[in-house]
Amino acid sequence: MKRIAVFTSGGDAPGMNAHIRAVERTGEKRGLEVIGIIGGYSGMMLGHFEVLDRIRTANIIDRGGTILKTSRCPEFEEVEGRIKAAEELRKHGIDGVVACGGDGTFHGAHYLWQEHGIPIVGTPGTIDNDLSGTDYTIGYDTAINTAAQAIDKIRDTADSHGRLFFIEVMGRHAGFIAMDVGIACGAEYVAVPETLTDIDEMYQRILAQGLDKRTVVIVGEGDELGGALGISKKLEERYGISSKISILGHIQRGGSPTVRDRVLASRLGAAAVDALLEGRSDVMVGEMSGQITSVPLEQTWEERKLVPPYLTELAYLLV
Ligand code: F6P
Repeated sequence: MKRIAVFTSGGDAPGMNAHIRAVERTGEKRGLEVIGIIGGYSGMMLGHFEVLDRIRTANIIDRGGTILKTSRCPEFEEVEGRIKAAEELRKHGIDGVVACGGDGTFHGAHYLWQEHGIPIVGTPGTIDNDLSGTDYTIGYDTAINTAAQAIDKIRDTADSHGRLFFIEVMGRHAGFIAMDVGIACGAEYVAVPETLTDIDEMYQRILAQGLDKRTVVIVGEGDELGGALGISKKLEERYGISSKISILGHIQRGGSPTVRDRVLASRLGAAAVDALLEGRSDVMVGEMSGQITSVPLEQTWEERKLVPPYLTELAYLLV
């Protein structure tokens, strides 16, 4: 193996730059040339590649976003898209690829390996923390800290006015962000996609708190009742309670990565390069209980990672 490539794909996550830096530096130390693919799978299909070096990857460890840019690329879900990408990779003499992203990215990587035999190792880069095979994903720690800071501020005004707030956080299929920030910010109720949200039970909890008191409900965007807007509407229709809604949105995806994210991203970058050199492919490298792990890409989406029940119990114990 002489030349490897790295790319970021799907929703960006703080720590992706630290990860790119780690792949480049580890590759260089192992005698490899490292190429950056610009714009995720879209850039791969178009041959948008650039040579990375120490200078290009200097002073990026603390930056949010991704210097390699990213994309969601429906074309890559088609066989023809993957043929184009494989041709470009071969044309540029790329012997192995590190793919940093979430489950969409890993689906693409899996098919690239299966259909074209291009060695590819995935690394978990998503704020959602919804990938099996790793305790945490790159970007998650920063996202929850960003969300917690915003929620603390909303609590101040909710408290002053004695208002009910529904605060929606990201997490398309998983409630990890919602549950962790719910506990960290002392929310009165946490609604997550993993469990059915019971409007009547929620009402009882809000009532117990006192309708004129500050009440903060954290809602994971993937909740089956339609996020913060859906829940607040249902509560109003059934019980005539009005509320304020705050959707934190993409603020959770930006900002300088926390130390934990920088270290995780660096460690997994180095581990991914070594996995390629050891001849591994179609796997994701992750970290579990402090150890580097490697699991088949398919497992990362087939085995659904769920918010552990002990966290849900804790959230309600402490209300
Ligand atoms: O990357 C994960 C995520 O931030 C989810 O939490 C969210 O549902 C989704 O991406 C939003 O994606 P986009 O920015 O493409 O709308």
